[in-house]
Amino acid sequence: MVKNSGGNYDQAFVAEHYDNVYDRLHRLDVQFYVDYAKKTPGSILELGCGTGRVLIPIAAAGKKITGLDYSPLMLQRCREKLALQPTAAGEMATLIQGDMTKFNLEEKFSLITMPFRPFQHLITVREQKACLQCVRRHLDKEGLLVFDVFQPFLPRLTDTRYLMEIDVEPEMALPDGRKVRRTNRTAAFHPAEQYNDIELIYYIKYPDGRRERQVHAFPMRYFFRTKMEHLLELSGFEIIDFFGNFDRTPFTENSPEMIFTAKKAGN
Ligand SMILES: C[S@@+](CC[C@H](N)C(=O)[O-])C[C@H]1O[C@@H](n2cnc3c(N)ncnc32)[C@H](O)[C@@H]1O
Repeated sequence: MVKNSGGNYDQAFVAEHYDNVYDRLHRLDVQFYVDYAKKTPGSILELGCGTGRVLIPIAAAGKKITGLDYSPLMLQRCREKLALQPTAAGEMATLIQGDMTKFNLEEKFSLITMPFRPFQHLITVREQKACLQCVRRHLDKEGLLVFDVFQPFLPRLTDTRYLMEIDVEPEMALPDGRKVRRTNRTAAFHPAEQYNDIELIYYIKYPDGRRERQVHAFPMRYFFRTKMEHLLELSGFEIIDFFGNFDRTPFTENSPEMIFTAKKAGN
């Protein structure tokens, strides 16, 4: 793995606030992936499963799922949340600490997913190809790969206004009395290499008046549609569906997401 890949999730404040933030944003991706999971005949592998935001609803739906993630702290969070589920759901999930660019689980899956952009943490083409090769080896003959990356919003790739902090998310009140607000900014543009340095910035106010600022900084690769199509095709996949959002609308120039479903070519 190259130096900057992995997304720097292994920090206590990141693992702690990840669910606080996304539970409130009600993303439609969870139901989208649960629907694929319910339809698949065999077991499921989620690469970059994080805190189980998607994995746990799939396990709760009675599907056998393995979650692989690079970050022990994100996995620890997932384990704690699974322990609060009914036993049956807990028994459906297996968690593995590993790198999605080099894993060998000695098992085949009928569905492999990468929800909410873990693939964009793979900065080099070498890592991207290595990941897709691992996916290919772990898919059943008829198995399906389903994953999403964002469609690049062109101004965000070069416009220096995005170097300023963007403050649009509501402040969260936590049960222990802390208040947390998250902003984001682009810290640097790397157009020649097609990734940006991103910062997610957490402002924490304690009940005693103390304040803290914590920064989750990571490089994030962006992909254009044809790059992703070529990458999949050259890695031995055939694209089955291509959506622009989690309501399965067709992709257009204004779509926020690029969601691919693919099978092993020649099957
Ligand atoms: C944005 S989170 C997505 C988590 C989860 N899939 C979800 O939808 O909430 C990205 C996750 O990818 C993981 N990740 C990044 N690079 C990875 C790698 N090389 N191998 C495995 N996991 C990785 C991070 O640790 C993080 O948990």
